[in-house]
Amino acid sequence: DMRRDLAGRRVMVTAGPTVEPIDPVRYLTNRSSGKTGYAIARAAAARGADVTLVSGPVALPEPEGVRTVHVETAREMLSAAQRAFAAADIAVFSAAVADMRPREAAAHKLKKGAGDARLDTLELVENPDILATLGAAKRPGQVVVGFAAETDDVVANAQRKLSSKHADLVVGNVVGGGRAFGTDDNEVWFVTAEETYGLPLMSKDRLADRILDVAASFLP
Ligand code: C5P
Repeated sequence: DMRRDLAGRRVMVTAGPTVEPIDPVRYLTNRSSGKTGYAIARAAAARGADVTLVSGPVALPEPEGVRTVHVETAREMLSAAQRAFAAADIAVFSAAVADMRPREAAAHKLKKGAGDARLDTLELVENPDILATLGAAKRPGQVVVGFAAETDDVVANAQRKLSSKHADLVVGNVVGGGRAFGTDDNEVWFVTAEETYGLPLMSKDRLADRILDVAASFLP
C-alpha cells in the first residue's frame, strides 16, 4: 500500500478474545481469532500510523512496526486501552471481550470430591464494556469504530450500537443463522450517522483498509 494517509496519526486497536480465570488452571473465553483486529493494525501501520494493538491471547504473530500490548482479562484490556485511547486519533474496538467473568478467581485449583459448591455453580459478574466506556469519554475529533456480530437484525443492532456506544462507524457482521456461513461468508454492513450500506464479500485485509478509509474520512 503506497498510501501514507495516516502518517502522524495514532491508531489504537483492540483484538482477540479475553480470558477470565476461574482458578489458576481454568478460564472462560470465546472463539475469537483476532484476525480482523490484527489486519486493521497491519493496515494502519502500512498507511503510516503509529499503532498500538491491545490484544487478548491469540495464535497470530505480532504485526511488524506495531506496539502490541498483551492482556488477558477484560479489565486488563480496559486499562491498556484506556492508556492508548487518550492519545489515539482513531480507536477500533474489534476485540471479542468476554461479557462476564467469575466473581472470584479461586486461589487454588478447584477440586472435585471435596464438596466445593463452585464445581456446581460458578458465580459470574458482568465485565466492563470497553467500547462504551471509552466511547463515552471520546474527545471532539477522535474517531471510534465498533463492531456488531449478530445472528439477527444486524443493521438495526448496529444502528443501536452506533449511538449507545458513541461510535462513528459500526461494522455489522452476520454470524451463524439459517444460511451456510463459513469463515469467509461474512455479510458486512457499514453503519454511520449518515448512511448504512452493505459491502461485497472481501478478505479481512481489504476490509481493514475500507474500515480505515471511513475512519480517516471522519478525522478533522
Ligand atoms: O455489545 P456488543 O458486545 O455486541 O458490542 C460489540 C462491540 O463492543 C465490539 O466493538 C466490541 O469490541 C465492543 N465491546 C467492548 N467491551 C465489551 C463488549 C463489547 O469493547 N465488554
